Formats: sequence, C-alpha cells, structure tokens
Amino acid sequence: MKIKLNVNSEDYTGDVEPRLLLVDFLRDTLGLTGTHVGCETGSCGSCTVLLDGRPVKSCLMLAAQADGSRIITIEGISKGEGMNRVQKSISESKALQCGFCASGIVIAATWFLERNENPNESDVREALSGNICRCTGYQPIVDAVLNASKEVK
Ligand code: FES
Ligand code: FES
Repeated sequence: MKIKLNVNSEDYTGDVEPRLLLVDFLRDTLGLTGTHVGCETGSCGSCTVLLDGRPVKSCLMLAAQADGSRIITIEGISKGEGMNRVQKSISESKALQCGFCASGIVIAATWFLERNENPNESDVREALSGNICRCTGYQPIVDAVLNASKEVK
C-alpha cells in the first residue's frame, strides 16, 4: 500500500506491507529506533508516539492506518532544543535505570505537561498509567515530571 505521512517534520511517501505495524515501520523502515517494542499488546507503553498530537501505542496500529498523519517520535519530541524539560529533569535526577521505558514515558509526560502546567502527584501518576517501568518503582519518574512542570517551557 502506498502511504504518505510526516514524521518529525519530514515527509515520507512509500509502499508498505498492509500488515506492517506502525512501530515496525518507524523502527525498521525509517530507522527511528528510539521507539521501543515491549509487549506488542498495548500494555507497556514503550512504543508510544504522538499521532496528530495525541499519544498512541504504535504497536496497536498498522502503518497503513497512519496514512496522512503527522507523527512525532522520541527523536522529534524536543523540537530541536536538545533535550526538552522532561528529558532534562529525568536525566538530571537519574530517574531511570535501564531506560527501556524512557521514550514512551517522555512522550506521554511531555504531552501531559503541555496540557497541565500545574499537576499534582496523582495527576502525573494517572498520566503515566499507560506506561510500565519494570525498574524504578515509578517514584523517581513521577518526581522528575513534577520538577519538569515547574520549569518554564
Ligand atoms: S509495545 Fe506497544 S504497548 Fe507495549
Ligand atoms: S527504567 Fe527500566 S523499564 Fe523503566
């Protein structure tokens, strides 16, 4: 199938297998391996990307279904600023361990903070409830997102 979409501000037009998952298209066709594949069942959130401005789990979509859309992956989330405030806060506080969950959490938290400038802990936990972290127990991540919320965008 021919698809046309925009990924991290770059246009792509090409043919894909109808059964190709969006996450596999991003990783294997475009080489954007920052989007991780964990469960492939929509549970872990490690494959989260923004599709037309909303977080989606890219293991639950076919690439063909993304035809015509604008996608932002972890490679494009900071809009050319180096690291964005969520990435900086997570990095500075060493909130992660193995980092496998990182890209999904950064995407989800960045999207959330753009809509909630003054969240409390419970808001952050709910916002990240679709993202599993197997290492940290979540508290350092939640603290890092709360700290990021206090920084000027
Ligand atoms: S790999 Fe997509 S939600 Fe786990
Ligand atoms: S830091 Fe290892 S899964 Fe989150």
